[in-house]
Amino acid sequence: MWGDSDTARFAAGGADPYTRMLEEGSDGVLRLRRLSSGTIVEEWDFVALGGSADGDDVAALGRCEGPLLDVGCGPGRMVRAAAERASAAMGIDVSPAAVRRARAHGTPALERSIFDRLPLEGRWRTVLLMDGNVGIGGDPPALLERCRDLLAPGGALVIEADPDEDLDERSLFTVVDAAGLESEAFPWARVGWRTVMRAARAAGLSGPAHMRSGERHFVRAVAPRRPISTAAAATQTAATHRPTSTSG
Ligand SMILES: C[S@@+](CC[C@H](N)C(=O)[O-])C[C@H]1O[C@@H](n2cnc3c(N)ncnc32)[C@H](O)[C@@H]1O
Repeated sequence: MWGDSDTARFAAGGADPYTRMLEEGSDGVLRLRRLSSGTIVEEWDFVALGGSADGDDVAALGRCEGPLLDVGCGPGRMVRAAAERASAAMGIDVSPAAVRRARAHGTPALERSIFDRLPLEGRWRTVLLMDGNVGIGGDPPALLERCRDLLAPGGALVIEADPDEDLDERSLFTVVDAAGLESEAFPWARVGWRTVMRAARAAGLSGPAHMRSGERHFVRAVAPRRPISTAAAATQTAATHRPTSTSG
């Protein structure tokens, strides 16, 4: 899990290109490299990530309600965009440099892992997993369950997913910058929007809906109206499958 050790933290260790970029405030591209094959599988444009929300970001937010939590907020562009629309918005990120940069913009952000204890647990109206952050921890089902538990009943989880709809890759990756500076390996997942919809249903979230804006894909799913404990969920499932008694 994230936060267990520094070396397992996203893009940290080694030459730490993510922290370097954040601290230097430099623009550029960071690439996600699969450790086993050495293949570059994704690119993040750091100008876009550190700047302002674009039209697709805003489309993903829709008519979001606050309080809103952006998980893995980086320098905080989505928190700023959400704050203009929701009543309250905050980001969390495990990267101290990301949190410093967000706060330098006046953006509320906490240096915290999604798996740490957080404020307003069970009371967030919206939780965001943007920019492929559904990959955090390399275990999307566990992450979605954690996000479900953070949401208020009826609250919405908005997840950006890979366009490759059935993609379901969980592996070790590194991050490398244009100069070839590379992080240590960390667990991450890459999941397509159909895979995310299945995982959302399995996590007890309802009505997962797919939305496309430009080249980007999002899934919006809703937390149960009444929080279901694991035991209650098991009882409910058993009740659903119990054969109907024919009296006597
Ligand atoms: C792909 S980047 C997304 C950046 C960000 N959304 C932005 O607007 O720049 C992934 C982000 O998730 C953060 N992260 C990784 N693991 C995390 C965890 N367990 N809890 C919270 N944030 C995490 C990383 O530090 C990084 O800032």
